[in-house]
Amino acid sequence: MSQLLTLSRAAHLTGVSRAVLQKRVREGELTSFDGMVSTDDLLSLFPDTCLEDTGAFEKMVSIRDDAFAKRLRERVLPTQEVLSQRLFEQGQEMAELRRHLTRYHSLIDGLRKHIDTTPALSATEIARLLDEGLAVVLASPAPVPAQKNLDAVDAMLKVMSSHVTVKPSGREFYVDGPETLLKASLRAGLSPNYGCGNGNCGMCKARVVDGEVRQVANSDYVLTGPEKSQGYMLMCSCTAVSSNVVLEVLEAGTAEDIPEQTVMTKVRSVDRVSDEVIRLHLQTPRTNRLRFLAGQRATLGLASSGQGNDSHGEYSIASCPCDDRNLLFHIPRLDERRPASADFSARLFGGQIKPGQELSVWGPWGDFVLARENGIVVRPLVFAAIDTGFAPIASLIEHALAVDTEESMSLLWASATEGGLYLANQARAWAEALDGFSYQPVVSPAPVEALVAALLQLPNLAASDVYLAGPVELIESAKAALLAAGLQPERLHSQGL
Ligand code: FES
Repeated sequence: MSQLLTLSRAAHLTGVSRAVLQKRVREGELTSFDGMVSTDDLLSLFPDTCLEDTGAFEKMVSIRDDAFAKRLRERVLPTQEVLSQRLFEQGQEMAELRRHLTRYHSLIDGLRKHIDTTPALSATEIARLLDEGLAVVLASPAPVPAQKNLDAVDAMLKVMSSHVTVKPSGREFYVDGPETLLKASLRAGLSPNYGCGNGNCGMCKARVVDGEVRQVANSDYVLTGPEKSQGYMLMCSCTAVSSNVVLEVLEAGTAEDIPEQTVMTKVRSVDRVSDEVIRLHLQTPRTNRLRFLAGQRATLGLASSGQGNDSHGEYSIASCPCDDRNLLFHIPRLDERRPASADFSARLFGGQIKPGQELSVWGPWGDFVLARENGIVVRPLVFAAIDTGFAPIASLIEHALAVDTEESMSLLWASATEGGLYLANQARAWAEALDGFSYQPVVSPAPVEALVAALLQLPNLAASDVYLAGPVELIESAKAALLAAGLQPERLHSQGL
């Protein structure tokens, strides 16, 4: 019997993104019933859905690696392959039983209706109807293998991951294995309220409305008696236990909801991605991460405070908030527009800032963030970068991918030289790997004019949210040209660097 699934569960099950499914719905290949899709329709579109394709096996391996000590694993548990196979077979058996029960339920239901509408039925007649119905049930054809397979994978995924719905936004995410609710929600692109990430501050307090959670990490913060009795827990130290959990969570709606922070980080790597740009990778301590929204900026400093010291620079964060420990920045060699950061940049390019060194990060700043309505991206996304404007744009794109937006994305990256597109491989990789994502490099001695001309060629520009980032004077010219061409100001979001 066909079941109805939410779009996000269908995506989880088939291993494709919600955006792909949404596109199929728009193109009429998949029917949506109030946001739900049927397993029959899914199977006809993705007949090869199987355990390997969903990545569930790999996920299970890593989950189990995290969860059990090596010694216990070797002595007590079967091998990963055996465990996977057994779970899969168990899922198939459960699916078979469910279908069998459904057939008996239909038989009894039909018989009951028959008795209601024909009160004079004799016991012999009822027995005959029952025998006939049973014969039909027992002769029912075996389910098609694909249906069996899909049901089995669904059953297995329910064992391996929990589905969490967040109130009041209605957003959803999955918790795999023993990961905490905070980690899973960040990975899914949510912006819950949190601070230390380590059970000390109490800022990630959330209320369990339905379902069961369990503490998996130590916490020093003590919830009060009334808080406990109302169902509050700490997202950074609890995981979901039941297959469906509903939480009431305080989420950041705008950049103003994120507090200013100073975090001491360590330099993980200094990569010269072109003659003019260095990609700086910083890592925060586990106990003190940087909370920010995609597209925001931060001040990097060589002294401990990051505030008012001699060598510092303000740069856009180029990574996704879904990985709040690993922060990336694209630092240009010479930034004449920002003389204050010239010393920082010179030290970095001069090799004086090395892996292992401490840097302070102070921020986050700015409101160049994804426009959402009720937490959801509602319009197609057009990203336009000039030179190192790619940094905040990369953060926004990674965040949009994490939230699995159903809207299409176009990236245009302009520079006066090929070398200015210093991470073109990354842009091309997105375009190759993702449905609904297009990438257009724009190399021209007049990058602003060329970028604006390319943007105006986009068929859906007027219906899109446009995100524009790059050197401030170039961005101001591009903005003026786009507004003069009729783009609505509220659809244009810009970040001058
Ligand atoms: S984030 Fe500080 S206690 Fe959870």
